Amino acid sequence: MASIRDYLFDTAFLDQSIDYLAETLDLAITVLDSEGLAIASRGSEGCDTSVSRTYPFSFSSDIGSIVCAAPNQALLNQAEPHILYCLASLNSQLLRETELREITEEMLQLSSQLNFLFKVAKKIIGIDDLKKCYQIILDEIFQAIKADQGFIHTKGRWDEEIRVTHRMTDEEVNSTRNSICLKQKAAGSTIICTREDGASLLYSPIKEKDCQSGQIVFIRASGHRAFSASEKQLVAIIENIISPTFETLRLYDSLQDLYLNTVKALAAAIDAKDPYTHGHSFRVAKYAMTIGGQLGLGNQQINDLEIAGYMHDLGKIGISELILGKPGKLTHEEFCLIQKHPVFTDKILQPIKLPTHILEGATQHHERMDGSGYPNGLAGANISLFGRIIAVADVFDALTSKRPYRDALPVEAALRTLCDGIDSLYDREMVLAFISALRAELSKEELADINMGLRYDDIHNLNQFLIELKEFALDANRN
Ligand SMILES: [Fe+2]
Repeated sequence: MASIRDYLFDTAFLDQSIDYLAETLDLAITVLDSEGLAIASRGSEGCDTSVSRTYPFSFSSDIGSIVCAAPNQALLNQAEPHILYCLASLNSQLLRETELREITEEMLQLSSQLNFLFKVAKKIIGIDDLKKCYQIILDEIFQAIKADQGFIHTKGRWDEEIRVTHRMTDEEVNSTRNSICLKQKAAGSTIICTREDGASLLYSPIKEKDCQSGQIVFIRASGHRAFSASEKQLVAIIENIISPTFETLRLYDSLQDLYLNTVKALAAAIDAKDPYTHGHSFRVAKYAMTIGGQLGLGNQQINDLEIAGYMHDLGKIGISELILGKPGKLTHEEFCLIQKHPVFTDKILQPIKLPTHILEGATQHHERMDGSGYPNGLAGANISLFGRIIAVADVFDALTSKRPYRDALPVEAALRTLCDGIDSLYDREMVLAFISALRAELSKEELADINMGLRYDDIHNLNQFLIELKEFALDANRN
C-alpha cells in the first residue's frame, strides 16, 4: 500500500488543500491510497454525493487519488478549476520533495563510501608491505559487502606475484581464474557475472598504465543473492584507487585524489541547490588556500583548507532551496533555520571522522571575533584558525557575488567591508593576509580564474588601493 502521506515530508499542505476544497466549494473530499482505502476525508457528513470525480496524484508510481463528490455535475464543473489548481500545487510539492530525497540519498551513499575509504586509508597508511595492504583492502571490502569468498591476484612492485585470499584455497583461486566466465568477460571494467556453478562473481581488473596486472574477485555461492549495483560501485572505487598504484605511497596519494573529488562532488550538489551561490564552495576553497599560503601554512594544511572550504556549506542540503534562494527578506524563522546549517554540516561530517581542524573550519565560518556569530557564539582565539580563515574567504565571496536582493560588490568595496570588521568580526591577521596575497601572489588573471565575474572600482590602480588599504587596516589596529 502506497499513500501520498508517505511521500510528503510536510503533510500540512495536503490537509489545508482538502480543507479548502471541502469548506469553500462545499464538496465531499476523500483522499485514497493506492489500494483505494480512504486515508482522509472532509465534508462527507450530510453532503449529497450523487456525482463524483477521481483525480489521481501525478507520481512515478500509484500513490492514490483525491475523490471529489457533489450533489450534481454543474457544481463539480464549477469547482473543477479549483480542484485542478490544488492538485497541481500538491504535485509540484511532491516533485520537489522527491528531488530533495534523491539528493539526500545520493549524499548519504557518497558519505558512507567516504567513511569506508577513510577506514581503509587509516588502516593502510604507513604500511610499506604491498601484500599486507592488499590483504587489508580485501578483508575490508569482504566485510563491507559480506561475500562468501574473495581474492586479489596481482604483481608486486618488482613484478613478483602477489596473491591474498579470504576463505579460498589456491586451487579454488586457480579454477576461478581459469573459469570460462572470467576468461570471456574479463573486460576492462568492474562487472558482475554468474559462474558455471551458479555462483555470483564480482570481478574487477587491476590495471597498471594501459595493461591489466591482476584482478580482484569476490564470490557469493549459488543459492545466495547475486551482487548488487552498489556493491559493484564500491569495488569499482577501490579498483580505481589501487589500479594506478604500485607502491603504498602512491596508493595513499590516489586515495587523497579520490577523496577530494568526492568532496568536490558533494560541494557541487550543495551549490546546485541555489543558482545564486553556484560555485561558491569552490571559490571559498580557493580564497582560503590563498590566505593559508600567505600565512605560510604547509602543503598538507593548505590541502586540508581546500577540503574544509569545499565542505563549509554542506549543511545547506538540509534547508529548502525556496528559503536559500528567497528574493525578499527572510522571516525570523527562516533566518534561524539558515543559521543552523553549520550544525547540519557537523552532523553530516561527524561519522566520517575527519581531522578536527577540517571539521572546525567547515563548521565555524560564521563565528565572529566578538562572539556575535553562530552557531556557538565563539570569540577570538576560541575560533579555530581554519574557521577564521574560511570566515574571511566566505564573506569576500558572498560580497563579490550577485544575490537575489543586490548586485555583486566591486573587489575594493568588499575588501573595505572586511577591513571595517577587523577585530570585531574578522581576524585582523587573516584579512591582512588576504590583502597581502592579492597584492603579492594573485594576479588579476588568477583571480579571474576563481571568479570570472569579479568587478573593480579601478582595476588599473588596484595595487595602490591594496597598499593604502593595508596601511588603513594596520592603523585601525593601532587605534
Ligand atoms: Fe555558510
